[in-house]
Amino acid sequence: MAPTDVRSLVIPKSSMSSGQVSWRSPSNIALVKYWGKFGNQYPRNPSVSFTLSAAYTETTIQYKPREDYKKKLSISFQFDGRSMPTFEQRIEQYLIGLISQFNFLEQFDLDIQTRNSFPHSSGIASSASGMSALALCLCSIEDHFFQTLQEDQAFRTKASMTARLGSGSACRSIYAHAALWGETGAVDGASNEYAVSLESMLHPSFVAYQDAILLVSREEKSVSSSAGHGLMDHHPFASVRYEQANRNLQSALECLQHGDLERFVLLCEQEAMQLHALMMSSSPYYLLIKPNTLAIIQAVQSYRNETGIPICFTLDAGPNVHLLYPKENKDAVENFINDKLVNYCHQGAWIKDEMGLGPLQSL
Ligand code: PMV
Repeated sequence: MAPTDVRSLVIPKSSMSSGQVSWRSPSNIALVKYWGKFGNQYPRNPSVSFTLSAAYTETTIQYKPREDYKKKLSISFQFDGRSMPTFEQRIEQYLIGLISQFNFLEQFDLDIQTRNSFPHSSGIASSASGMSALALCLCSIEDHFFQTLQEDQAFRTKASMTARLGSGSACRSIYAHAALWGETGAVDGASNEYAVSLESMLHPSFVAYQDAILLVSREEKSVSSSAGHGLMDHHPFASVRYEQANRNLQSALECLQHGDLERFVLLCEQEAMQLHALMMSSSPYYLLIKPNTLAIIQAVQSYRNETGIPICFTLDAGPNVHLLYPKENKDAVENFINDKLVNYCHQGAWIKDEMGLGPLQSL
Protein backbone atom coordinates (compact mmCIF):
# COMPACT_ATOMS: atom_id res chain seq x y z
CA MET A 1 0.00 0.00 0.00
CA ALA A 2 1.35 3.42 -0.92
CA PRO A 3 1.60 5.98 1.89
CA THR A 4 -1.48 8.20 2.01
CA ASP A 5 -0.27 10.39 4.83
CA VAL A 6 -0.05 14.04 3.87
CA ARG A 7 2.64 15.18 6.28
CA SER A 8 4.89 18.03 5.33
CA LEU A 9 7.84 16.04 3.99
CA VAL A 10 5.96 13.66 1.74
CA ILE A 11 7.07 14.04 -1.88
CA PRO A 12 4.20 14.44 -4.37
CA LYS A 13 4.18 11.66 -6.98
CA SER A 14 4.83 14.15 -9.78
CA SER A 15 8.11 15.27 -8.15
CA MET A 16 9.51 11.83 -7.38
CA SER A 17 12.89 11.01 -8.90
CA SER A 18 15.96 8.88 -8.29
CA GLY A 19 19.27 10.24 -7.17
CA GLN A 20 22.28 9.87 -4.93
CA VAL A 21 23.98 11.81 -2.13
CA SER A 22 27.37 11.29 -0.46
CA TRP A 23 28.97 12.76 2.64
CA ARG A 24 32.31 12.24 4.33
CA SER A 25 32.07 12.94 8.04
CA PRO A 26 34.84 12.84 10.63
CA SER A 27 35.08 11.30 14.06
CA ASN A 28 35.55 13.56 17.08
CA ILE A 29 37.32 13.26 20.39
CA ALA A 30 35.63 14.54 23.53
CA LEU A 31 37.64 16.68 25.94
CA VAL A 32 34.80 16.98 28.46
CA LYS A 33 32.98 13.68 28.18
CA TYR A 34 29.33 12.85 27.69
CA TRP A 35 28.59 9.91 29.99
CA GLY A 36 25.04 9.31 31.12
CA LYS A 37 21.88 10.07 29.19
CA PHE A 38 18.11 10.40 29.62
CA GLY A 39 14.94 10.55 27.53
CA ASN A 40 15.43 10.61 23.80
CA GLN A 41 19.24 10.58 23.77
CA TYR A 42 19.69 13.72 25.87
CA PRO A 43 22.98 14.12 27.71
CA ARG A 44 23.16 14.33 31.50
CA ASN A 45 25.91 16.89 31.13
CA PRO A 46 27.29 19.13 28.38
CA SER A 47 30.36 17.94 26.46
CA VAL A 48 33.03 19.52 24.27
CA SER A 49 35.04 17.90 21.50
CA PHE A 50 37.62 18.46 18.81
CA THR A 51 36.54 17.41 15.34
CA LEU A 52 39.08 15.11 13.70
CA SER A 53 40.19 14.78 10.12
CA ALA A 54 41.87 11.50 9.11
CA ALA A 55 39.36 9.23 10.89
CA TYR A 56 36.14 9.54 8.92
CA THR A 57 33.20 7.65 7.41
CA GLU A 58 32.06 8.06 3.82
CA THR A 59 28.42 7.26 3.15
CA THR A 60 26.45 7.25 -0.09
CA ILE A 61 22.69 6.84 -0.30
CA GLN A 62 21.14 5.98 -3.63
CA TYR A 63 17.39 6.50 -3.59
CA LYS A 64 14.81 5.48 -6.12
CA PRO A 65 11.01 5.57 -6.04
CA ARG A 66 9.72 2.55 -4.24
CA GLU A 67 7.53 -0.05 -5.86
CA ASP A 68 7.00 -2.51 -3.06
CA TYR A 69 5.49 -1.45 0.28
CA LYS A 70 5.60 -4.78 2.08
CA LYS A 71 7.94 -3.52 4.78
CA LYS A 72 7.96 -0.27 6.71
CA LEU A 73 11.19 0.76 4.98
CA SER A 74 13.04 -0.60 2.00
CA ILE A 75 16.76 -0.44 2.68
CA SER A 76 19.85 -2.33 1.68
CA PHE A 77 23.10 -1.62 3.48
CA GLN A 78 26.70 -2.48 2.75
CA PHE A 79 29.80 -1.72 4.74
CA ASP A 80 33.01 -1.77 2.67
CA GLY A 81 31.03 -3.40 -0.14
CA ARG A 82 29.88 -6.26 2.10
CA SER A 83 26.57 -7.01 3.79
CA MET A 84 26.65 -6.61 7.57
CA PRO A 85 23.35 -7.82 9.04
CA THR A 86 23.94 -6.43 12.55
CA PHE A 87 24.80 -2.96 11.25
CA GLU A 88 21.92 -3.12 8.80
CA GLN A 89 19.43 -3.86 11.57
CA ARG A 90 20.71 -0.99 13.68
CA ILE A 91 20.48 1.40 10.71
CA GLU A 92 17.00 0.17 9.83
CA GLN A 93 15.74 0.74 13.39
CA TYR A 94 17.35 4.17 13.43
CA LEU A 95 15.73 5.16 10.12
CA ILE A 96 12.32 3.82 11.19
CA GLY A 97 12.60 6.09 14.24
CA LEU A 98 13.25 9.04 11.90
CA ILE A 99 10.22 8.64 9.61
CA SER A 100 8.25 11.30 11.49
CA GLN A 101 11.00 13.83 10.67
CA PHE A 102 11.86 12.60 7.17
CA ASN A 103 8.51 11.30 5.90
CA PHE A 104 9.93 10.66 2.45
CA LEU A 105 12.06 7.79 3.78
CA GLU A 106 9.06 5.52 3.26
CA GLN A 107 8.80 6.53 -0.39
CA PHE A 108 12.17 5.24 -1.60
CA ASP A 109 14.24 2.13 -2.01
CA LEU A 110 17.37 3.23 -0.16
CA ASP A 111 20.72 1.70 -0.96
CA ILE A 112 23.27 2.74 1.68
CA GLN A 113 26.98 2.20 1.08
CA THR A 114 29.43 3.13 3.77
CA ARG A 115 33.13 2.82 4.49
CA ASN A 116 35.54 4.04 7.14
CA SER A 117 39.00 5.50 6.59
CA PHE A 118 40.21 3.38 9.53
CA PRO A 119 40.05 -0.40 9.75
CA HIS A 120 36.85 -1.78 11.30
CA SER A 121 38.88 -3.75 13.83
CA SER A 122 41.05 -0.81 14.88
CA GLY A 123 39.11 -0.27 18.10
CA ILE A 124 38.11 3.22 16.96
CA ALA A 125 34.43 3.84 17.54
CA SER A 126 32.80 4.57 14.20
CA SER A 127 29.40 5.62 15.52
CA ALA A 128 30.21 9.36 15.60
CA SER A 129 31.49 9.50 12.02
CA GLY A 130 29.03 6.89 10.74
CA MET A 131 25.86 8.36 12.21
CA SER A 132 26.81 11.92 11.30
CA ALA A 133 27.54 10.93 7.67
CA LEU A 134 24.16 9.23 7.43
CA ALA A 135 22.33 12.16 9.02
CA LEU A 136 23.97 14.60 6.59
CA CYS A 137 22.84 12.45 3.65
CA LEU A 138 19.24 12.51 4.92
CA CYS A 139 19.33 16.29 5.26
CA SER A 140 20.70 16.63 1.72
CA ILE A 141 17.85 14.51 0.35
CA GLU A 142 15.34 16.62 2.29
CA ASP A 143 16.85 19.80 0.95
CA HIS A 144 16.92 18.46 -2.61
CA PHE A 145 13.18 17.81 -2.63
CA PHE A 146 11.90 20.54 -0.30
CA GLN A 147 14.59 23.30 -0.15
CA THR A 148 13.91 23.47 3.60
CA LEU A 149 17.55 23.48 4.70
CA GLN A 150 19.10 26.06 2.40
CA GLU A 151 20.75 28.04 5.16
CA ASP A 152 23.93 26.51 6.47
CA GLN A 153 22.90 26.87 10.10
CA ALA A 154 19.48 25.28 9.57
CA PHE A 155 21.11 22.42 7.67
CA ARG A 156 23.72 21.77 10.33
CA THR A 157 21.25 22.04 13.20
CA LYS A 158 18.96 19.44 11.68
CA ALA A 159 21.90 17.21 10.73
CA SER A 160 23.28 17.45 14.25
CA MET A 161 19.91 16.69 15.84
CA THR A 162 19.40 13.73 13.53
CA ALA A 163 22.92 12.41 14.17
CA ARG A 164 22.32 12.67 17.94
CA LEU A 165 19.41 10.27 17.69
CA GLY A 166 21.79 7.67 16.19
CA SER A 167 24.66 8.20 18.62
CA GLY A 168 24.94 11.09 21.05
CA SER A 169 28.55 11.98 20.30
CA ALA A 170 27.81 12.01 16.53
CA CYS A 171 25.99 15.34 16.85
CA ARG A 172 29.34 17.07 17.53
CA SER A 173 30.98 15.81 14.30
CA ILE A 174 28.89 18.19 12.16
CA TYR A 175 31.12 21.19 12.91
CA ALA A 176 34.66 22.17 11.99
CA HIS A 177 37.35 22.40 14.68
CA ALA A 178 35.38 22.12 17.93
CA ALA A 179 31.81 21.67 19.11
CA LEU A 180 29.72 21.74 22.26
CA TRP A 181 26.62 19.66 22.95
CA GLY A 182 24.29 20.01 25.90
CA GLU A 183 22.48 22.68 27.83
CA THR A 184 24.72 25.18 29.56
CA GLY A 185 24.43 28.85 30.26
CA ALA A 186 28.09 29.17 29.26
CA VAL A 187 27.46 29.27 25.48
CA ASP A 188 24.64 31.05 23.63
CA GLY A 189 22.33 28.67 21.81
CA ALA A 190 23.68 25.55 23.56
CA SER A 191 21.10 22.78 23.53
CA ASN A 192 20.49 19.17 24.50
CA GLU A 193 18.94 18.64 21.05
CA TYR A 194 21.99 19.37 18.93
CA ALA A 195 25.58 20.55 19.08
CA VAL A 196 26.82 24.05 18.29
CA SER A 197 30.10 25.21 16.81
CA LEU A 198 32.90 26.55 19.01
CA GLU A 199 35.01 27.58 16.04
CA SER A 200 34.72 31.32 16.57
CA MET A 201 35.97 31.22 20.16
CA LEU A 202 38.98 28.99 19.60
CA HIS A 203 42.35 30.52 20.48
CA PRO A 204 44.97 30.26 17.68
CA SER A 205 47.07 27.90 19.89
CA PHE A 206 44.50 25.20 19.22
CA VAL A 207 44.27 25.53 15.46
CA ALA A 208 45.39 22.31 13.75
CA TYR A 209 45.85 20.72 17.18
CA GLN A 210 47.25 17.23 16.73
CA ASP A 211 45.70 13.95 17.83
CA ALA A 212 47.83 10.79 17.66
CA ILE A 213 45.56 7.79 18.20
CA LEU A 214 47.56 4.93 19.72
CA LEU A 215 45.86 1.61 19.04
CA VAL A 216 46.48 -0.41 22.16
CA SER A 217 43.94 -3.09 21.36
CA ARG A 218 41.84 -3.97 18.35
CA GLU A 219 39.34 -6.06 20.24
CA GLU A 220 35.64 -5.25 20.15
CA LYS A 221 34.59 -3.37 23.27
CA SER A 222 33.27 -5.66 26.00
CA VAL A 223 30.54 -3.15 26.96
CA SER A 224 28.59 -1.07 24.44
CA SER A 225 28.47 2.65 25.09
CA SER A 226 24.68 2.40 25.44
CA ALA A 227 25.08 -0.06 28.31
CA GLY A 228 27.77 2.19 29.80
CA HIS A 229 25.50 5.25 29.71
CA GLY A 230 22.76 3.11 31.27
CA LEU A 231 24.95 2.25 34.27
CA MET A 232 25.11 5.95 35.14
CA ASP A 233 21.38 5.87 35.99
CA HIS A 234 22.03 4.30 39.40
CA HIS A 235 25.66 5.23 39.77
CA PRO A 236 26.55 6.28 43.34
CA PHE A 237 28.74 9.13 42.05
CA ALA A 238 26.38 10.33 39.30
CA SER A 239 25.34 13.67 40.75
CA VAL A 240 28.89 14.58 41.76
CA ARG A 241 30.04 13.66 38.25
CA TYR A 242 27.46 15.86 36.55
CA GLU A 243 28.35 18.82 38.78
CA GLN A 244 32.02 18.32 38.08
CA ALA A 245 31.44 17.91 34.34
CA ASN A 246 29.69 21.27 34.31
CA ARG A 247 32.60 22.89 36.13
CA ASN A 248 35.08 21.20 33.80
CA LEU A 249 33.12 22.42 30.83
CA GLN A 250 33.36 26.00 32.03
CA SER A 251 37.07 25.51 32.57
CA ALA A 252 37.55 23.89 29.14
CA LEU A 253 35.83 26.82 27.45
CA GLU A 254 38.13 29.27 29.23
CA CYS A 255 41.19 27.27 28.16
CA LEU A 256 40.01 27.08 24.54
CA GLN A 257 39.31 30.78 24.47
CA HIS A 258 42.50 31.98 26.12
CA GLY A 259 44.94 29.36 24.86
CA ASP A 260 45.71 28.19 28.39
CA LEU A 261 47.55 24.99 27.49
CA GLU A 262 48.81 24.21 30.97
CA ARG A 263 45.32 24.08 32.42
CA PHE A 264 43.99 22.33 29.31
CA VAL A 265 46.45 19.45 29.80
CA LEU A 266 45.33 18.84 33.39
CA LEU A 267 41.69 19.12 32.54
CA CYS A 268 41.77 16.67 29.61
CA GLU A 269 43.59 14.05 31.61
CA GLN A 270 41.31 14.46 34.60
CA GLU A 271 38.24 14.02 32.39
CA ALA A 272 39.66 10.85 30.81
CA MET A 273 40.49 9.37 34.20
CA GLN A 274 37.11 10.27 35.59
CA LEU A 275 35.31 8.56 32.70
CA HIS A 276 37.15 5.33 33.40
CA ALA A 277 36.80 5.73 37.16
CA LEU A 278 33.02 5.89 36.63
CA MET A 279 33.14 2.62 34.71
CA MET A 280 35.28 0.99 37.36
CA SER A 281 32.90 2.05 40.11
CA SER A 282 29.57 1.19 38.47
CA SER A 283 27.55 -1.89 39.28
CA PRO A 284 28.47 -4.13 37.59
CA TYR A 285 31.90 -2.50 37.24
CA TYR A 286 34.04 -2.93 34.17
CA LEU A 287 37.55 -2.21 33.13
CA LEU A 288 38.34 -1.10 29.59
CA ILE A 289 41.91 0.13 29.93
CA LYS A 290 44.77 -2.33 29.46
CA PRO A 291 48.23 -2.49 31.04
CA ASN A 292 49.65 -0.84 27.91
CA THR A 293 47.17 2.05 28.27
CA LEU A 294 48.72 2.78 31.67
CA ALA A 295 52.26 2.33 30.37
CA ILE A 296 51.57 4.96 27.70
CA ILE A 297 49.98 7.35 30.22
CA GLN A 298 53.04 7.13 32.47
CA ALA A 299 55.47 7.56 29.59
CA VAL A 300 53.55 10.64 28.41
CA GLN A 301 53.61 12.20 31.87
CA SER A 302 57.38 11.69 32.13
CA TYR A 303 57.96 13.03 28.62
CA ARG A 304 55.93 16.16 29.44
CA ASN A 305 57.89 16.73 32.64
CA GLU A 306 61.23 16.27 30.85
CA THR A 307 60.51 18.37 27.76
CA GLY A 308 57.92 20.92 28.88
CA ILE A 309 55.88 20.08 25.74
CA PRO A 310 52.19 20.52 26.61
CA ILE A 311 51.16 17.07 25.44
CA CYS A 312 48.29 15.28 27.17
CA PHE A 313 46.30 12.10 26.82
CA THR A 314 42.61 11.47 26.66
CA LEU A 315 40.59 8.26 26.37
CA ASP A 316 37.33 7.16 24.80
CA ALA A 317 35.32 4.32 26.30
CA GLY A 318 38.11 1.90 25.41
CA PRO A 319 41.82 1.16 25.83
CA ASN A 320 43.19 3.29 22.98
CA VAL A 321 44.97 6.51 23.85
CA HIS A 322 44.53 9.86 22.11
CA LEU A 323 47.54 12.15 22.49
CA LEU A 324 46.73 15.81 22.04
CA TYR A 325 49.46 18.39 21.36
CA PRO A 326 50.14 21.62 19.45
CA LYS A 327 51.14 21.41 15.79
CA GLU A 328 54.48 23.10 16.52
CA ASN A 329 55.49 20.03 18.55
CA LYS A 330 54.50 17.56 15.84
CA ASP A 331 57.98 16.37 14.85
CA ALA A 332 59.26 15.98 18.39
CA VAL A 333 56.16 14.09 19.55
CA GLU A 334 56.11 11.82 16.51
CA ASN A 335 59.73 10.88 17.24
CA PHE A 336 58.78 10.17 20.84
CA ILE A 337 55.87 7.97 19.71
CA ASN A 338 58.03 6.05 17.25
CA ASP A 339 60.88 5.61 19.76
CA LYS A 340 58.97 4.89 22.94
CA LEU A 341 55.26 4.32 22.48
CA VAL A 342 54.78 2.11 19.42
CA ASN A 343 55.94 -0.85 21.51
CA TYR A 344 52.77 -0.51 23.56
CA CYS A 345 50.53 -0.39 20.48
CA HIS A 346 48.94 -3.43 18.89
CA GLN A 347 51.33 -4.36 16.07
CA GLY A 348 52.86 -0.90 16.46
CA ALA A 349 49.75 0.74 14.97
CA TRP A 350 48.87 4.38 15.50
CA ILE A 351 46.97 6.96 13.46
CA LYS A 352 48.14 10.52 12.82
CA ASP A 353 45.13 12.73 13.09
CA GLU A 354 44.45 16.39 13.78
CA MET A 355 41.68 18.89 14.23
CA GLY A 356 39.72 19.03 10.99
CA LEU A 357 37.42 21.14 8.91
CA GLY A 358 34.27 19.10 9.47
CA PRO A 359 32.13 17.11 7.04
CA LEU A 360 32.44 17.36 3.27
CA GLN A 361 29.78 16.64 0.71
CA SER A 362 31.08 14.62 -2.24
CA LEU A 363 29.44 15.23 -5.58
O1 PMV B 1 27.91 8.60 21.42
P1 PMV B 1 28.06 7.41 22.31
O2 PMV B 1 26.75 6.91 22.82
O3 PMV B 1 28.89 6.35 21.65
O4 PMV B 1 28.85 7.85 23.63
C1 PMV B 1 30.15 8.38 23.57
C2 PMV B 1 30.76 8.45 24.90
C3 PMV B 1 32.21 8.87 24.97
O5 PMV B 1 32.88 8.69 23.75
C4 PMV B 1 32.90 8.04 26.02
C5 PMV B 1 32.32 10.33 25.41
C6 PMV B 1 31.99 11.38 24.38
O6 PMV B 1 31.52 12.44 24.81
O7 PMV B 1 32.24 11.17 23.18
